[in-house]
Amino acid sequence: MFLWGTATASYQIEGAAHEDGKGPSIWDTFSHEPGRTRDGHTGDVACDHYHRWPEDVALIKEVGLNAYRFSISWPRVQPSGRGAVNQAGLDFYDRLVDALCEKGIVPTPTLFHWDLPQALEDEGGWLNRDISAYFADYAAIVADRLSDRVTTWITLNEPFIHMVFGYALGIHAPGKALFLDALPAAHHQLLGHGLAVQALRGGGAERVLITNNCTPVWPASGSAEDLAAAEAYDTLHNRLFNDPLFFGTYPDFSAYGIADLDFVRTGDLETIAQPLDGLGINYYNPTRIAGPGSDGLPFTDAGITGYPTTAFGWPVVPDGLRELLVTFKARYGTALPPVYITENGCSYEGVDDQERITFLDGHIAAVRQAQAEGVDVRGYFVWSLLDNFEWAEGYHQRFGLVHVDFDTQERTPKASYHWLREFLANQG
Ligand code: NOJ
Repeated sequence: MFLWGTATASYQIEGAAHEDGKGPSIWDTFSHEPGRTRDGHTGDVACDHYHRWPEDVALIKEVGLNAYRFSISWPRVQPSGRGAVNQAGLDFYDRLVDALCEKGIVPTPTLFHWDLPQALEDEGGWLNRDISAYFADYAAIVADRLSDRVTTWITLNEPFIHMVFGYALGIHAPGKALFLDALPAAHHQLLGHGLAVQALRGGGAERVLITNNCTPVWPASGSAEDLAAAEAYDTLHNRLFNDPLFFGTYPDFSAYGIADLDFVRTGDLETIAQPLDGLGINYYNPTRIAGPGSDGLPFTDAGITGYPTTAFGWPVVPDGLRELLVTFKARYGTALPPVYITENGCSYEGVDDQERITFLDGHIAAVRQAQAEGVDVRGYFVWSLLDNFEWAEGYHQRFGLVHVDFDTQERTPKASYHWLREFLANQG
């Protein structure tokens, strides 16, 4: 069955930041620090999904989707990130999973969507190798509770964005600006992924995926300099997080002046390269890259012009999704498992969101084209069900199929929601 779904994440929608025994996450800390998010917005209340989830599940059912990707808040389950388990936190996801199953919606939880328990950040966060093993312990706890009903699991969400925004540039929690010294945060997330795959399988999981943010990389020109820069960017954004999974090796980092990833230990790559049942891909737009600038990196972002843009200013390039899928198929060959588009969507204002309809229609057509070109795509999830807390942008970017009035929490399905219902009904 092809999974037609929508995706959300715990910190972006749940609220109830301190309820029922939940511990603080790095986003609770970060969003309360002055100047970190636009207008000082926080996820304290967000969409109040923690209390309103039955209404939200009904919205998923009514639109006719057969899958729902949500994330589990690690500090709700383990308030200090390790050790003691908070049963009330597990109970919340237990009820949610029951409600989804009752309605015939496939629950597709992600174990880590950036809300690391603050107590683990105090131990160094993903820069600390030990966190990988704690992540696997947490995965085992959740699998033990849910794997009788959850068959499809996702370990990490976008480890690339978490490393770059959280540890290299300081735009997201935990707010560290370490530039290339952030690389251990990539390795420890991937190691945590590998260990979590083992833990999930040990706990009865049938299908395990990881979700990577991937982008087709366009050289700004045919010059040798731009071509080399594009390759260097591809190494960082795409290869760093996919080569270890499917080739069991890290890509060559010499363009960054790095000869040796000295934090990688013997046996780590075998752990990371666990067989997977699917690759989750989050696609938003291509990236156009030119030769090095003055910041010491071997590339610069040249920007893309000549395409419509979303309210976020992101270029709308549906064919980039087809290009990405076909490129990955050529690159990884038979090592590439079935692909699930675990996020695709756009930020626009308003309830009569005709641009979102055009966006989704175009990107679904691109998926179909990639399938026709031989890529095994088995799912497509719209980001997002609800307008929600868009990280450093606060509530300013609205990605939902459903509008949320953040003063009253009233949900109003947008034109795109109604369009999607028609579209899915016609799929039969
Ligand atoms: C990807 C992230 O996983 C999600 O949390 C975010 O809201 C969307 N991109 C849009 O930026």
